[in-house]
Amino acid sequence: MAVDVLLGLQWGDEGKGKIVDVLSADYDLIARFQGGPNAGHTLEFDGKKFVLNTIPSGIFFNNTQNLIGNGVVIDPITLKREIDKLKDAGHDLLAKNNLMIAKKAHLILPTHQLLDAASEKKMGEGKIGSTLKGIGPTYMDKTGRNGLRIGDILLPDFKERYQKLTDKHTSMLQALYGEVADFSEREALFFEAVELIKKFPLVDSEHLVNGYIKQGKKVLAEGAQGTMLDIDFGSYPFVTSSNTTTAGACTGLGIAPQQIGEVIGIFKAYCTRVGGGPFPTELDNEVGEELRRIGHEFGATTGRPRRTGWIDLPALKYAIMLNGVTQMVMTKADVLSGFDKIYACTHYNYQGETIDYMPYDICTIHPEPVFKEIDGWHEDITGITELNQIPEKLKNYIDFLEQELEVPIQYLSVGPDRVQTLELH
Ligand code: GTP
Repeated sequence: MAVDVLLGLQWGDEGKGKIVDVLSADYDLIARFQGGPNAGHTLEFDGKKFVLNTIPSGIFFNNTQNLIGNGVVIDPITLKREIDKLKDAGHDLLAKNNLMIAKKAHLILPTHQLLDAASEKKMGEGKIGSTLKGIGPTYMDKTGRNGLRIGDILLPDFKERYQKLTDKHTSMLQALYGEVADFSEREALFFEAVELIKKFPLVDSEHLVNGYIKQGKKVLAEGAQGTMLDIDFGSYPFVTSSNTTTAGACTGLGIAPQQIGEVIGIFKAYCTRVGGGPFPTELDNEVGEELRRIGHEFGATTGRPRRTGWIDLPALKYAIMLNGVTQMVMTKADVLSGFDKIYACTHYNYQGETIDYMPYDICTIHPEPVFKEIDGWHEDITGITELNQIPEKLKNYIDFLEQELEVPIQYLSVGPDRVQTLELH
């Protein structure tokens, strides 16, 4: 039995949360493998809506265990808030005993957030578009070998370790920016949240996940953000601080590459991006505005308007190659209902040449997209439940994408609710 991986193929917000939720019932363990509370996985069912930032999306099923893996960075304050909110909604995770946390996951401290904000302020125009949640500085401390980990909260000298790192941060802030904002309130919340986290099983996740594999149980590794935001292969420096690709599932959970089974790539029927950075197919016009309005393209965590554009096939092909995608899920097809014509970028014009891949210097020399025009469909598809109800022109779009991308689209999502999902093959 292998570990299946589910991840985003674009710039994040592809609807991974909904799809993990749809697939969760088939798995024994759902494990988040990277990123921090900048993820906002939105799930809707039975008329209720939940946004999960750190907690894996399998939390609502009774027979599914959930793990926050070692590759994740955890803000105890946000995690506590999530746990409290779920409890208020009738999902008491301590009582359900369905959430485990990796001891090797790193902790986001209040001062990491101050460093994040100070750094973005200093960058001015060239800023990355950070969510200011302290994620980048926490990963910097991880690779700089200074970080604090979840397992450390159990050590008798945790407070001293915390103080040492915090002092380092405040002296950096003082030296670089000449000021340190007051964080005493957040510090109190931090320690209160740490006490709650201590009540959950803190585990060696690599042993746990490999134990599941040995016992023949089914594991789904849940990614956050998207491939084009990967620290190595995304549109650097406008990327996130972790590996969002399949390789990140190996390092973020402690599993060997040969344990990877299906790789399920999620993409939207069009394209969005939050924050700065290149976006070749962006529609900075009323069509883009229309996509934003119909698709409710505003960040689940930050509320920031998302930039919108047509689907980008060179970028998707790149993502499929990097991840070894074996099947795909297309979400938000319903948002395109009503457009007479839709467009798919098949190539780029780049420095006098036509190319079908993402060039290295995408951030400085902007590739011009070459679009194929496709007939749109007008039918409302949000209520369809059978394959024969899929409009002919949407079917043509699906066939075209499968041919171009050479990977089957296994599921079609036609609305945010769990039930608005069709299995195509
Ligand atoms: P990140 O890890 O933050 O990238 O999140 P994500 O990939 O889980 O996506 P997110 O939940 O932020 O955004 C997707 C949004 O689209 C949510 O509001 C979902 O409820 C919604 N959604 C998902 N699938 C569909 C769909 O097929 N149609 C429509 N209209 N909305 C959808």
